[in-house]
Amino acid sequence: MARFPCRLQRHSSDTDLCAVLAAHLERHLCSWQGPDPLKPLGLATGRTMEPLYRTLVERLLSWSADELEALRARWCSFNLDEYLGLSADDPRGYRAYMTHHLAAPLGLPASAVHLPDSTAADGAVAARRYGEQLSGCGGIGLQLLGLGSNGHVGFNEPPCPPDQHCHEVELTPATRQQNAVLFDGCVEAVPQRAITLGLWEILEAAEIHLVVTGAAKAGILKRLLDLREPDPALPASWLLTHPNVWLWCDAAALA
Ligand code: GLP
Repeated sequence: MARFPCRLQRHSSDTDLCAVLAAHLERHLCSWQGPDPLKPLGLATGRTMEPLYRTLVERLLSWSADELEALRARWCSFNLDEYLGLSADDPRGYRAYMTHHLAAPLGLPASAVHLPDSTAADGAVAARRYGEQLSGCGGIGLQLLGLGSNGHVGFNEPPCPPDQHCHEVELTPATRQQNAVLFDGCVEAVPQRAITLGLWEILEAAEIHLVVTGAAKAGILKRLLDLREPDPALPASWLLTHPNVWLWCDAAALA
């Protein structure tokens, strides 16, 4: 357990952090240009990721036209989670988020940017299919993660076990409150259910990057760093069992 995190990246600001992490992601994506198929990218949403995607897009758009075309041809990403009960083009959904922040600026084919189906009538069936689709592509290679104020990763709400596969989940009041800002501040408008990759798929990733920024995350980050062993009440703590987790923090989150 003492290995957590495998690397701690402290940065004075969110901007510095994003520059270094985007450069790391760019190097990872460069290896996609090689002959060997790489495992899918695991992507996260949320406000934490917005400056990171902006910085990554800037870097990638400086590639040559041929390199960008090759990247688009090989792109394969799977997002962690999606709300249930929103239309596919609802601007508050994570598909719209990914289109806006990554797929449209990079010209990625929509079919290569995978997310759970927000319109599914049966969330459990859709979750199982999504997990199977990811397995069929070899599982996650590099996983990006944000941290919920209640310690969730993806939408794995506390308490949660480490061996749960992709599933339908009922969101906690804390999570709906945290994300209400994207629904005009109206908690009731935040969907009650979602589909999320489970800790099982997340922990299968070869490399995990947990990004925690801002003063609002200082309390939950301290709880995580104080733990010596996983606690189901803090879902992110299962990362303590993974041998290759990088923790990226700014000064405000570490304060
Ligand atoms: C959200 C999402 C996660 C996200 C996390 C942090 O509820 N389900 O995928 O990483 O919580 O969100 P934010 O970056 O907005 O604080």
